[in-house]
Amino acid sequence: MNQQELKRTAARKAVEFVPENEYIGIGTGSTVNLFIEELAAGGKRIKGAVSTSSATSALLAKFEIPEVALREVIRLGVYIDGADEINHSLQMIKGGGGALLGEKIVASASDKFVCIADESKYVAQLGRFPLPVEVIPSARSLVARQLLKLGGEPELRVGFTTDNGHEILDIHHLDINQPLALEDEINKITGVVENGIFARNGADVLILGRASGAEVIHIR
Ligand code: 5RP
Repeated sequence: MNQQELKRTAARKAVEFVPENEYIGIGTGSTVNLFIEELAAGGKRIKGAVSTSSATSALLAKFEIPEVALREVIRLGVYIDGADEINHSLQMIKGGGGALLGEKIVASASDKFVCIADESKYVAQLGRFPLPVEVIPSARSLVARQLLKLGGEPELRVGFTTDNGHEILDIHHLDINQPLALEDEINKITGVVENGIFARNGADVLILGRASGAEVIHIR
């Protein structure tokens, strides 16, 4: 099986975790795109979906899945999203697609976070994937200097602006052995809008696409 097929294996399984007649949250990325396809094909009825990016909104519209704004709903039954890396405590690095701010907001409004990923994303320690940090553009250099002090090597994602008008610094070679502490420490830097460590609100369930089928891993 290639990586795309492994992603689809996880995405298809995730449809089982979608509660009928409720609002749900939907993340961003190629695995989520497959989930949206599978959700539409499965014919499960939901009240509506809160989207995390313009790309996801466009796909929801294509498959005629009703979109609802976060401010219009009180709770989301489940949040489905991919990850760039996920460790054995189900803490993640996200933001490879640049939608980390919307993703973190919608995830925090959801009862349960179901992460869908191909097996290559499951790692013992986070950090091989460069950590995306969303920054206010005018503060970019200031923030980069602080991140250098933390041992990382910041690289500007050239030509990329987030849906919220910010820039992304991808931080290479960070030592992420304490994801929770580092998530908080980076967010304290003035000029940082949000960073891609999802440890404070990690996943509750991981669905891994493996060649042998979908493996479901629960943490709590
Ligand atoms: C986007 C994300 C994605 O979840 C992450 O990049 C995984 O993407 P893909 O499913 O394409 O591998 O965090 O901001």
